[in-house]
Amino acid sequence: SVSSAFDFAPNLFPLSSTAQGYTALGAPSNAALDPSGVMSGGSLEKNKSITYLNGLSLVVGLIIGSGIFSSPSQVNRNAGSPGASLIVWVVAGILAWTGAASYAELGGAIPLNGGAQVYLSKIFGEWAGFLFTWCAVCVLKPGSAAIIAIIFGEYLVRAIIGADAVDASTWLDKSVAMGGLVFVTLLNCISTKVGTRSADIFMFMKFLALLGVTITGVVVAFTGFSYKGVASDDWKTKGWWEGTNTDISNWAVALYAGLWAFDGWDNVNYVTAEFKNPTRDLPRVIHTSLPLVIISYILANISYFLVLPADVIESSNTVAVAFGSQVFGPIGSLVLALFVSGSCFGALNATTFTSGRLVYAAGREGYLPELFGTIGLGKSHRAVRLHANTKSKIPRKIVDWFADDDAGFFFTPISAMALNAIVTAIYIVIGSFDTLVTFYGVAGYSFYFLAVLGLIILRVKEPELERPYKTWITTPIIFCCVSLFLLSRAVFAEPVQTLLVVAFMAAGLVVWFGWVGRRRNKEKGRFRHGEGDGGEKGGWKFWKRWRN
Ligand code: ARG
Repeated sequence: SVSSAFDFAPNLFPLSSTAQGYTALGAPSNAALDPSGVMSGGSLEKNKSITYLNGLSLVVGLIIGSGIFSSPSQVNRNAGSPGASLIVWVVAGILAWTGAASYAELGGAIPLNGGAQVYLSKIFGEWAGFLFTWCAVCVLKPGSAAIIAIIFGEYLVRAIIGADAVDASTWLDKSVAMGGLVFVTLLNCISTKVGTRSADIFMFMKFLALLGVTITGVVVAFTGFSYKGVASDDWKTKGWWEGTNTDISNWAVALYAGLWAFDGWDNVNYVTAEFKNPTRDLPRVIHTSLPLVIISYILANISYFLVLPADVIESSNTVAVAFGSQVFGPIGSLVLALFVSGSCFGALNATTFTSGRLVYAAGREGYLPELFGTIGLGKSHRAVRLHANTKSKIPRKIVDWFADDDAGFFFTPISAMALNAIVTAIYIVIGSFDTLVTFYGVAGYSFYFLAVLGLIILRVKEPELERPYKTWITTPIIFCCVSLFLLSRAVFAEPVQTLLVVAFMAAGLVVWFGWVGRRRNKEKGRFRHGEGDGGEKGGWKFWKRWRN
């Protein structure tokens, strides 16, 4: 079937049946692992099953990942003092909160799969949606995977060779990161089930790791207990404000690091259509999950400060290992290192899964070469239907456990995932946590900014549009102002990363106006007339008709 110009290839993905049954914390899998909705085959409407609690754990689970265990170093170095760092964490949290609320309104008003790609297409024209997809494929998806993989590597290396090897070779860290990436990509190539099942296993690791840090911090604060003797007294001798940085650009860099830990809030709106009672529960989910995450991050940071001297926090991306080692000795650091790397592995797995679908959909949509819109090992590949083959020597039960229901093995977007893995690997090699976080932040917040600006435009242009959830108008305005500040400071704070992002965007525009966009206009003329929707005339008119 030919998808409409503005629907992000919703009916093209044949794997939905296998993922449908999977539940993460009771919520449908396609919400948890398929935020872009590509896999759900446009069946969001069928699946009105998310309750308030499901939504809550989903959002919290999506946001908590590597950041709270790795960003504190960069936040502290750039903010200068514990007090200033805590302010950065609060501001980052509030920005995420206002962003999530704004996106929820967009998601309700434009209830289609595809997230920002769709909103930008509707509001600004298809070029903007393409630009988002382009940057998601080149920067956002592989960039975030690289960051998570790097933190995974750093923690796993410390779990294996010991906490005190803070200065382990970067290349060892990077090799392990690369190994994790390859492993996760292979897992996700085998079958959809293997990918989703591994997500299940790692889901709770992050909760335990974060809870461990906060509870330990509270206990240390009250009892003063610590394996290595006294916990840090930095905060007593130096106070909370000594050393606060006065350079506003450094604050922007700190903010990018904090925002990384809160990132993922944009996935909130992907589940809007699946709520049983969206009007009531969606705002409730947002307005409890974000404050919950903000509070737990603040508590975790206070715990770090109470236990560790500032220079230890600032010296590595593996603050949780130093924390565990200070309070519980070698066992503590081992346990925390394992849990955090497990949490990162889970995040890497989920993001690999969605990246594969995103790249695949972009290939189907004609945004990328056709090759990336193929399933399996090539155009003519037939799925390996091992489980249907009763002569197979492998016990049926085991095969069934791993094989996709209708498709068997390797019926996954393999070339798409390979592309994503290659770009991710490049970032792992040339980047570091610090550089990638800013790079990712600049690219990500450009689009968050555009989409939320679009919300404001939409309010003016289409006041009558049905909006199941409506934020206060101050919410998007605050979001736009703060992210504009952030983006404008990036040029001064990190010119190289910013220029790179601008270069990627410029390249995307060239590709669109020089090639993909033109071809699509021709195709639309040829194929889409029959649909009688006047889609060629621009996104907005098409959209209004589509809705009715
Ligand atoms: N907040 C997550 C972390 O701390 C990162 C989420 C990455 N973003 C995303 N859309 N998957 O690791």
